[in-house]
Amino acid sequence: MYNDNPTLVGLQQKMDESRQGEAYTDARKAAHTEGNGKHFYIESYGCQMNFSDSEIVASILSGEGYRATRNMEEADLILVNTCSIREKAEETVRKRLRIFDQVKQSRPGTLVGVLGCMAERLKAKLLEEEKLVDLVLGPDAYRDLPKLIATAEDGDKGINVFLSREETYADISPMRLDSNGVSAFISIMRGCDNMCSFCVVPFTRGRERSRNAFSIVAEATDLFQRGYREVTLLGQNVDSYKWENPETGEPVSFAELLEMVALVHPDLRIRFSTSHPKDITDEVLYTMKRYENICKYIHLPVQSGNSRILKLMNRTYDREWYMNKVRRIYEIMPDCAISSDIIAGFCSETEEEHQDTLSVIECSNYSMSYMFFYSERPGTLAARKYEDDIPLKVKKRRLQEIIRLQTQVSFEHNKKDIGKTFKVLIEGDSKRSDQEFKGRNSQNKMIVFPKAAGLEPGHYCYVKVEDATSATLRGQLVEAG
Ligand code: SAH
Ligand code: SF4
Ligand code: F3S
Repeated sequence: MYNDNPTLVGLQQKMDESRQGEAYTDARKAAHTEGNGKHFYIESYGCQMNFSDSEIVASILSGEGYRATRNMEEADLILVNTCSIREKAEETVRKRLRIFDQVKQSRPGTLVGVLGCMAERLKAKLLEEEKLVDLVLGPDAYRDLPKLIATAEDGDKGINVFLSREETYADISPMRLDSNGVSAFISIMRGCDNMCSFCVVPFTRGRERSRNAFSIVAEATDLFQRGYREVTLLGQNVDSYKWENPETGEPVSFAELLEMVALVHPDLRIRFSTSHPKDITDEVLYTMKRYENICKYIHLPVQSGNSRILKLMNRTYDREWYMNKVRRIYEIMPDCAISSDIIAGFCSETEEEHQDTLSVIECSNYSMSYMFFYSERPGTLAARKYEDDIPLKVKKRRLQEIIRLQTQVSFEHNKKDIGKTFKVLIEGDSKRSDQEFKGRNSQNKMIVFPKAAGLEPGHYCYVKVEDATSATLRGQLVEAG
């Protein structure tokens, strides 16, 4: 989910003209008639929200007549959508900027733009530090891209890092980048109003705001009609989604939104990320249970298993409260898989407190986790209030212990699936062989199985699991969808 490797845009982005829904108009109309002969290249880092934002940016550029390219050497505009979540994420981007520098030197006139969280965090400083950068745009400023490109073409630097309280890009139809044609992201909200002490996101993404529910349903419907079979509803904290219908004054909660999207079609799978343990409600859990097409999988980041550390992290729940939430999920949906995000070596964490994190992994029986060591981010509450006092060596050792245990727990979790039959949505060829398909079950586990005649990506089928590693299940087809 969090990516330090870039995803590049595809050349073969399909321009689909059969759009419907008035709340959801197409910002790319101009591109359908004529291009401007220019190409853009975009790399994305960080969370799914950033990848989703790159699709908005691509749509805006496409509306200006730009075409996507996978080859940065032929690009007139090179963009990098950046992440600030950990120091390493920013270092990766700085290294990429050195590469873009070389391209620019061999091809004068190429514009380089930094988008996303690092642009927002560093603002004009980025232009001072990185002389080759022409454009700096924060996450809420993408509509301004065409204007800023024009400024940069005139030889000035273009910058907009204004954070909005309203922008949700609700009316922009994302141009699906590097898509498998089966699953797509739908952004349902932006920003975050929580103040987890370690986290830079509230500073880079601004205040929380929810997108028009009807535009979300229209986007899901449009995707389904174009052959997509899975959508992931995205937000930093999806359970606090709240949108008020301006005509009726009726509020729409996350549980209600889930239901609205689930009703688009029974063959459209719904996933969502991320859930904050403090906000996920029974109503959401019962809605998930009620609809077969809402996947039985919840990403429920714990961060730490120790109540004192959780308090310092300002997560607003303690270990017991979290464990009760986990029990509630398994009680309502015994077949639900839960995954987590975990931070090792937060300020002042003792060995005993670290042991609490290890035990929460076992008690929660996570199917998988994203695991990190603490990286202090300038300006955050933790950076201002607490000393980053755990030596790097200790952080790394604790992280290794966490990874080792999670790998074991995942392996046990997967072994329990041997002998069971799952409904699988086929995503494409497996990594290793074009004789095999890969697809996911409802619990978000990847299953690899031999191909059979008549089956294609986007089809559902039933697969019986025969073998498991800590990362993948293998099986045999039992019946086609
Ligand atoms: N909104 C999501 C998380 C977004 S950031 C949530 O609340 O769960 C993704 C993950 O990065 C976090 O869950 C956390 O585990 C990790 N992370 C955030 N800030 C970090 C930091 N300063 N150091 C290390 N990991 C961090
Ligand atoms: Fe960061 Fe916390 Fe918001 Fe997640 S909920 S984005 S960790 S501040
Ligand atoms: Fe990174 Fe920004 Fe996402 S900091 S994790 S890209 S919200």
